[in-house]
Amino acid sequence: MIEIYAIGIPEKNIQLKYFNECLQYVDKQKQVEIKRYVRHEDAQRVLMADILIRTIICGKLKIKNKEISFGSNEYGKPFLIGAENFHFNNSHSGEWVVCAIDDLPIGIDVEMIQSIDFDIAERFFSKEEYKDFLSKDESEKLPYFYDLWTLKESYIKAVGKGLSIPLDTFSIRVCDDGIKFKTKNEFKDCFFRQYNIDGSYKLAVCAGSGIFPENIIMKSCDEVCREIIKESEG
Ligand SMILES: CC(C)(COP(=O)(O)OP(=O)(O)OC[C@H]1O[C@@H](n2cnc3c(N)ncnc32)[C@H](O)[C@@H]1OP(=O)(O)O)[C@@H](O)C(=O)NCCC(=O)NCCS
Repeated sequence: MIEIYAIGIPEKNIQLKYFNECLQYVDKQKQVEIKRYVRHEDAQRVLMADILIRTIICGKLKIKNKEISFGSNEYGKPFLIGAENFHFNNSHSGEWVVCAIDDLPIGIDVEMIQSIDFDIAERFFSKEEYKDFLSKDESEKLPYFYDLWTLKESYIKAVGKGLSIPLDTFSIRVCDDGIKFKTKNEFKDCFFRQYNIDGSYKLAVCAGSGIFPENIIMKSCDEVCREIIKESEG
């Protein structure tokens, strides 16, 4: 069953106490990756994403945190070793860390809406998508750009093959009566859903099952940090 989780990171910093404490509960390779980030915001988003999925796995699969072992496919998509039917994906941007789980492949993308050079649309969207984008009123162009961007990204992330999937091999259209999807790619039995998490962000999920939850499960940084500390020390 699909579940979607989100953590809002309200302040610039997680309390340093929790940051350092939680760092020891992710694997060594992740610790190295996190310490390499120049900006603390980036480091904390990646740490929180890892901690979040760990707490979910501990709760759902009744596995101890220290027994959790992640692998990744050749394109970098992480998976939980030893749990073939457990799928997850995470995304982070600005003040949000989000995670989706299901028993079928799933992809999620959150993006902060920022002004961009619209030339990017022609480069990244299919011909049909670009035509739809151009047909929008000026005020609708930016949100529609991010609608398509996050939906396309969620598809790429569900498939798990990154940008080796040419972006013009599938087309998405956001209509009043739903999200329309066309592709000749192998991964075609998929469903999309957008969530309004925050007016300044777009959030999209692509899943193999069409039964999406109505609501996102919201967690705070402190709550998730305390959960992993308690689980790991218990
Ligand atoms: C690797 C990729 C997932 C990066 O996405 P992103 O938007 O920069 O980052 P997100 O925050 O959404 O996702 C990051 C998470 O995706 C996961 N991930 C990494 N490789 C992945 C893959 N091949 N498939 C699915 N998920 C992947 C990881 O868990 C990663 O988390 P981490 O950084 O905490 O380790 C990839 O899709 C990419 O390079 N996209 C480029 C953006 C682009 O051109 N998009 C076009 C849309 S029109």
